[in-house]
Amino acid sequence: MRIAVTGATGQLGGHIIDSLLKRGIPAADIVAIVRNEAKAAGLAARGVTVAVAPYEDAEALQQALTGVDRLVLVSGSEVGKRLAQHTNVINAARAAEVGFVAYTSLLNAPTSKLSLAPEHVATERLLAESGIDHTVLRNGWYWENYASALEPAKATGKMFGAAGDARVAAAARADYAEAAAVVVTGDGHVGMVYELGGTPALTYPEIAEAVGEAIGAEVDYVNESVAEYRAGLEGAGLPADLAGMIAEWDAAIADGALYSESTDLQDLIGRPATSATAALSA
Ligand SMILES: NC(=O)c1ccc[n+]([C@@H]2O[C@H](COP(=O)([O-])OP(=O)(O)OC[C@H]3O[C@@H](n4cnc5c(N)ncnc54)[C@H](OP(=O)(O)O)[C@@H]3O)[C@@H](O)[C@H]2O)c1
Repeated sequence: MRIAVTGATGQLGGHIIDSLLKRGIPAADIVAIVRNEAKAAGLAARGVTVAVAPYEDAEALQQALTGVDRLVLVSGSEVGKRLAQHTNVINAARAAEVGFVAYTSLLNAPTSKLSLAPEHVATERLLAESGIDHTVLRNGWYWENYASALEPAKATGKMFGAAGDARVAAAARADYAEAAAVVVTGDGHVGMVYELGGTPALTYPEIAEAVGEAIGAEVDYVNESVAEYRAGLEGAGLPADLAGMIAEWDAAIADGALYSESTDLQDLIGRPATSATAALSA
């Protein structure tokens, strides 16, 4: 069975390849689809087959996917360009007769108020219309996202946000990667939509506590308005548009965008997901 992974030089993609190798898939049967060959040198050195195919290059994608049985489509990182990119991958997968696609979507995608959601919903629809057997992996937030709070917390003893009393069911990248590897190597997942997040979900004060445990100091959560949080992020040097996007995400998170009671993640990986403290300490 030949299994391809897009975004293979990225953080999640790298973990997925590690998980596939751990599950006994021979390195040569793993196709790492990358846009930057130099960045894939480590994968090639481990015997993984590397195919260079940027999401914009339909022909290269089809070539990379020829002979591939199953694909993990890791969602792209260029927000706003992703639907066109995912369309290229799905069309190439169909043309190359790939038998199965697992797509990394977003937790609660259809109801999510996160600005990230519409591209994921549209990609899920494309997959459904493609006729290719597939599974949707609706990944929640990575605990690692809160690593950006570590340095400010060291300096101020505070973690800032605007998520109110939201609860976040997150996990480590490696957990989501393992779930993707389980699904793409296993059977019985076709047509499934998995809502993936860790349990228990944490409030922002509890996440601040985990940040504190990771740095060995007490850290308090300071809840701000979206405007205050945005101004703080800009003050810390983030470009205005990025600061605005991140602050708006907290408004959606406050609305429950990243909360789920689903146990799909631990059911798939057969263990509890990594805790916030462990992920942030790593
Ligand atoms: N759940 C969450 O909390 C969360 C957080 C952030 C992102 N995400 C989503 O999950 C995905 C994986 O996360 P991650 O942490 O692994 O992100 P990442 O480390 O930024 O990896 C993204 C990967 O996509 C590749 N890529 C980007 N644009 C491409 C293009 N035009 N053609 C081909 N490859 C392209 C990158 O290639 P290079 O290595 O060459 O840059 C990289 O390998 C992200 O792309 C995003 O959709 C989820």
